[in-house]
Amino acid sequence: MKDFALTLLLSAALSSALPQEIDWDAVDALKPIPTASIPVVSAAAAATTLPINTASAVSAVSSAVLARPSEAIIAARHVKFHVARAILATRDNDNSTATDNSKCAQKPAADDTPDAFGQTQSFAQTALKASTPAGYNQVYVNKNGSSEFIYPYLGFTTLDSYDTAKCAKRCDAVSGCQSINIYFERDPSVEPAAGCTDPSSSTVIKCVYWGSPVTDASTTNTGQWRKNFKVLIAGSNGYVNATHSKPPGYNEPISLNNSAIIAPPNCRGYETYMGVKIFQNKPFSIDLCASACSASSEYNRAHPDKTGYFQTCQFFNTYILYNETQAVGQYCALYNETWPKDFATNFGQFRNGRKFTLGSSWMVSNSTADLDKPRGCANGQTCS
Ligand SMILES: *[C@@H]1O[C@H](CO)[C@@H](O)[C@H](O)[C@H]1NC(C)=O
Ligand SMILES: *[C@@H]1O[C@H](CO)[C@@H](O)[C@H](O)[C@H]1NC(C)=O
Ligand SMILES: *[C@@H]1O[C@H](CO)[C@@H](O)[C@H](O)[C@H]1NC(C)=O
Ligand SMILES: *[C@@H]1O[C@H](CO)[C@@H](O)[C@H](O)[C@H]1NC(C)=O
Ligand SMILES: *[C@@H]1O[C@H](CO)[C@@H](O)[C@H](O)[C@H]1NC(C)=O
Ligand SMILES: *[C@@H]1O[C@H](CO)[C@@H](O)[C@H](O)[C@H]1NC(C)=O
Ligand SMILES: *[C@@H]1O[C@H](CO)[C@@H](O)[C@H](O)[C@H]1NC(C)=O
Repeated sequence: MKDFALTLLLSAALSSALPQEIDWDAVDALKPIPTASIPVVSAAAAATTLPINTASAVSAVSSAVLARPSEAIIAARHVKFHVARAILATRDNDNSTATDNSKCAQKPAADDTPDAFGQTQSFAQTALKASTPAGYNQVYVNKNGSSEFIYPYLGFTTLDSYDTAKCAKRCDAVSGCQSINIYFERDPSVEPAAGCTDPSSSTVIKCVYWGSPVTDASTTNTGQWRKNFKVLIAGSNGYVNATHSKPPGYNEPISLNNSAIIAPPNCRGYETYMGVKIFQNKPFSIDLCASACSASSEYNRAHPDKTGYFQTCQFFNTYILYNETQAVGQYCALYNETWPKDFATNFGQFRNGRKFTLGSSWMVSNSTADLDKPRGCANGQTCS
């Protein structure tokens, strides 16, 4: 087997000026995440859940790092997770035919129009006065779009009333659920089809579960055409579970919000950055990155170089990387030394004309080492 610790050391020494900027090789190697769109339902109540067990995802990370360390750590590659089977309701944008309601059992009343839905004041009033569920933070209020492309999609339920607390409770019962989007949707009462291309509408209140935080920017799903029927959204509110985990053996995670660490070289001019892993379509979890960090140390400890030297992962920065409004994955950057918050200077980067930003960023250090300063220099020399 290749001498991993040595490879790590050499790569670190030879790496370019700012190796911790977004690793485009790692990002480009990712496969697209299948689009999950929420089925447009007619009148009858509907629900589906697609729970994902975070604990088993965490142990999968550890096993993957131990089995393929070079791929997983310095080579900065992602783990291929089992992607939850999503409901793939294709968007029906076939709008070529003229409205034909000759065979409609459910003909729309004269005032049943998209415009009338848009002008319904009670949707906005309800959304604006809705209370934030206990243990959640409000992220957006009264949007005309629902969240999409934030991953993983964990299902939805319809509700009899716009009840944010009930929606949050349902989310709490879905493994991996971290945020909710509740909204009014103008749905067709029956599936539009030949002879009934624009049926009457029914207003459905949807409560959607997401495995990562909903964001204001993600409310881009403003509806769709189904034959000649226009699906619309109103009064869309987003709430995120305020709890974050504290992985055992690590200090209390420190929030960096929408920024990421770019650590300088240590006092001897060496990079302390060990590499990156990106998790896709898994519930966002600080524990996933902690698992990668600890497993890297475990592997290195078992594979010292000829002088007995090995590196350990002592610190990590994990966040959600966004390609404009769409989540790319959970980024997990590993370091062999702890750095203070002052080095959180990366607020995003442009690439091929698209803006990549960060969110839900946390930095976490090993609580055994427990140093808020760079270390590793000879003779106790401090780096400042
Ligand atoms: C679709 O059809 C409706 C009604 O016939 C029309 O108002 C609308 O402009 C069409 N939309 C598109 C995108 O072609
Ligand atoms: C939502 O749509 C309504 C009706 O078209 C409009 O009055 C309102 O300004 C829109 N709100 C947003 C946030 O775009
Ligand atoms: C938030 O998430 C935590 C951890 O997953 C969970 O235990 C809790 O039930 C969730 N809901 C609230 C309201 O805290
Ligand atoms: C976190 O970042 C978002 C933008 O991504 C910003 O709207 C928000 O105000 C920030 N929160 C804090 C506490 O800095
Ligand atoms: C923290 O670092 C110490 C020293 O390298 C190591 O023994 C311990 O396993 C690390 N803790 C975790 C949770 O990785
Ligand atoms: C960003 O999104 C655009 C549009 O979907 C896509 O063409 C591009 O490949 C994405 N880039 C990366 C690095 O994911
Ligand atoms: C971190 O890695 C660099 C580069 O390999 C090395 O010079 C430094 O001593 C390491 N720090 C620790 C604490 O092992």
